Amino acid sequence: MDFAFNETHLMIRETARKFAEEVLAPSADERDEKEEFPREAVRQMGELGFMGMMVSEQYGGAGLDTISYVTAMEEISKVDASAGVIMSVNNSLVCWGIESYGSEEQRQKYLKDLASGKKLGAFALSEPEAGSDATNQRTTAVRDGADYILNGTKNWITNGLSSDVVLVMAATDRTKGPKGVSAFILEKGMPGFTVGKKERKLGIRSSDTVSLMFQDVRVPVANRIGEEGSGIKFALKTLDGGRIGIAAQALGIAQACLEASIAYSKERKAFDQPIGHLQAIQFKIADMATNIAAARWLTLDAAVRKDKNERYGQVAAMAKLYASKVAVQSALEAIQIHGGYGYVREYKVERFLRDAKITEIYEGTSEIQRIVIARGLLG
Ligand code: CAA
Repeated sequence: MDFAFNETHLMIRETARKFAEEVLAPSADERDEKEEFPREAVRQMGELGFMGMMVSEQYGGAGLDTISYVTAMEEISKVDASAGVIMSVNNSLVCWGIESYGSEEQRQKYLKDLASGKKLGAFALSEPEAGSDATNQRTTAVRDGADYILNGTKNWITNGLSSDVVLVMAATDRTKGPKGVSAFILEKGMPGFTVGKKERKLGIRSSDTVSLMFQDVRVPVANRIGEEGSGIKFALKTLDGGRIGIAAQALGIAQACLEASIAYSKERKAFDQPIGHLQAIQFKIADMATNIAAARWLTLDAAVRKDKNERYGQVAAMAKLYASKVAVQSALEAIQIHGGYGYVREYKVERFLRDAKITEIYEGTSEIQRIVIARGLLG
């Protein structure tokens, strides 16, 4: 891979790191404990350009590349993976989806507020019976003059409670299977659009995850993204990029585990020496660092390919598959290195494990990533 960070990437890394340490770090544990959404931090992330990093400047975004996005995502997620996923969904699923596939009117109407953090977006594909089997959409959208009428339920929607704008996939013609699904832009406040219960989660507890209900929600035809029937391709293509963001989130969590483990290994003494002098600990740290370096290169490779307009879906799946595994392994090892202290809340590594696990599940489980990779190889 032909790659080197430029001045802008390095500046973004510094800005994101400083913001994460100064603004997110002091309250991350408390927000995790209280399951509290980081509203003020998200507003500030919008001011810094982190909520619409790849959105063109003409639509109010930062006009940056995917490498910049991945770099900022890693730094934010290293400190607070909940803030990481809030940022990721808004950037790579909602903003990217609207800019790449929306009409000019939709871009003008929605992107400025989403990119600046004034409004927040969510992406509603999953349903009670359509998780990995995403094409099996039960939510329906029936054309009625200049509107569609939506009915159905969406599950596991990240940002679903705090969002203002939601991209919703719905079946416009169930007889056509995946070719009968369309994508729509819904706004909170549309009559019949309600938010269900907030899920109580293992990790990323300060991001909100809810179900969404649609009962005869009238959505103008002007809010359909692309042609009728293009919704599944839209969703899967958008998820290809989303997976790069989640790989970067996983990378951030893994890096946090490594840094915490190094610091603890220098501070904690056993057998009259810092535990970092023991090979049992050194080998864990060496493996962790090697795996993280490999995950970072895969993630950057996917980002570089996306920026060069090359095919990136398969490498994005590899990056997410590998980085999420490294995040979970690193968190387990970090807890082991910390011993009893790792199992309690004081040293944060137990939060890193809880946060890491979801990266193997959302935006396509690890099993789905393997399917995407294998199909790319075998046809
Ligand atoms: N880009 C564009 N189009 C694509 C595509 C892609 N990456 N992958 C598939 N397609 C097209 C196919 O070509 C096909 O169209 P044609 O029939 O015209 O060729 C159509 O989409 C349907 O694809 P498949 O026939 O391959 O569908 P499938 O049911 O066999 O399998 C799958 C597809 C890969 C398993 C897919 O369903 C999948 O990725 N599932 C996981 C869904 C997922 O990631 N969900 C995450 C929810 S969102 C989330 O988590 C966000 C959050 O809140 C954090």
